[in-house]
Amino acid sequence: MAIISSKKQPQEPNKEPKQRREVAKAPPKENLLQPEAAVDEGKQEESIRPQRFADYIGQKDLKDVLDIAIKAAKSRGEVLDHLLLYGPPGLGKTTMAMILASEMGVNCKITSAPALERPRDIVGLLVNLKPGDVLFIDEIHRLSRMSEEILYPAMEDYRLDITIGKGSSTKTRSLPLSKFTLVGATTRAGALSSPLRDRFGLIQKLRFYEVDELSKIVLRSAQLLQTNITEDGAAEVARRSRGTPRIANRLLKRVRDYAEVKSFKEVNEQVAAEALQLFQVDPCGLDWTDRRMLSVIIEQFNGGPVGLETIAAATGEDTQTIEEVYEPYLMQIGYLSRTTRGRVATPTAYKHLGFKPPNEQLSLLP
Ligand SMILES: Nc1ncnc2c1ncn2[C@@H]1O[C@H](COP(=O)(O)OP(=O)(O)OP(=O)(O)O)[C@@H](O)[C@H]1O
Ligand SMILES: [Mg+2]
Repeated sequence: MAIISSKKQPQEPNKEPKQRREVAKAPPKENLLQPEAAVDEGKQEESIRPQRFADYIGQKDLKDVLDIAIKAAKSRGEVLDHLLLYGPPGLGKTTMAMILASEMGVNCKITSAPALERPRDIVGLLVNLKPGDVLFIDEIHRLSRMSEEILYPAMEDYRLDITIGKGSSTKTRSLPLSKFTLVGATTRAGALSSPLRDRFGLIQKLRFYEVDELSKIVLRSAQLLQTNITEDGAAEVARRSRGTPRIANRLLKRVRDYAEVKSFKEVNEQVAAEALQLFQVDPCGLDWTDRRMLSVIIEQFNGGPVGLETIAAATGEDTQTIEEVYEPYLMQIGYLSRTTRGRVATPTAYKHLGFKPPNEQLSLLP
């Protein structure tokens, strides 16, 4: 839920806003374009989640690295190195952890850092691991310090150090653990403590997907959902999905509902576009906050540079969400660039929002 900030907005030097700035009110959050899973979405996702490496579309660099790691570990009869996956929500971190376990022929235990608040939670998980198992910890940057410290010897030497007693009678006992692979996932690699980060043998970033990759994901999901969609219909859904498979699958379901209700035999480009327009999904997948960010930069600051705090105040989002969720996608599609002095809207962003790009404005001057 967006919070409307009442903070006084910092003024940029030499750049007077053209009009009195007001913090526009965000419409009720339409969650079609949010990259995080909705509360009841997890279960629905399971039916279309790829199970094998071959079905995991895109992320070529990541797949190449992991393919080699899997083959090497298998040929040496060893467990896979600990792996840290980081990147924006909905790009396939959990999916990849599950695929890794199935490719290695081992179990995957899934948990998330907020569920490991007490040391005994993580101890319980570790002692029950079987040789080779994958332990997946989501949101790993949120681990408590005590849980982290239990993980260090477990990751390094497959050992659990337990402290018994108090004061002068304190004793430390070590218990051997099965060799296992820790897969950590985070949307905020920078928030991980460096001792923890250093204990991962492999650290891999997930990237936004290209439109042709998302189209393939949509075609695959449509087949599983028994939805008749043409290639250009899938591409239309893909273009509006913010480079994110979770959003692509969500939009596909909405488009499918629309086609069913309107009795269309197949989803082609026009049907997909109509449906998504009805659900107010922008042709490039921009939502209210993206558009507001860009229009503030363009209208009030002549295209920038504008500081992050100012953008946050104008959109009512916190700076962290803007940096981690909004900006990466806007930069990926070339609408925004980050400079040392602030954020700048590109000519493509001007055009998309119906403004004249700065160069064209200049050329119109007498
Ligand atoms: N490479 C891919 N190929 C096909 N489908 C994918 C791919 N990556 C993700 N998906 C689909 O997107 C959905 C979301 O992926 P996943 O749950 O793995 O994301 P995540 O990165 O773990 O997100 P979060 O940060 O919210 O935990 C999955 O249900 C899956 O169906
Ligand atoms: Mg996940």
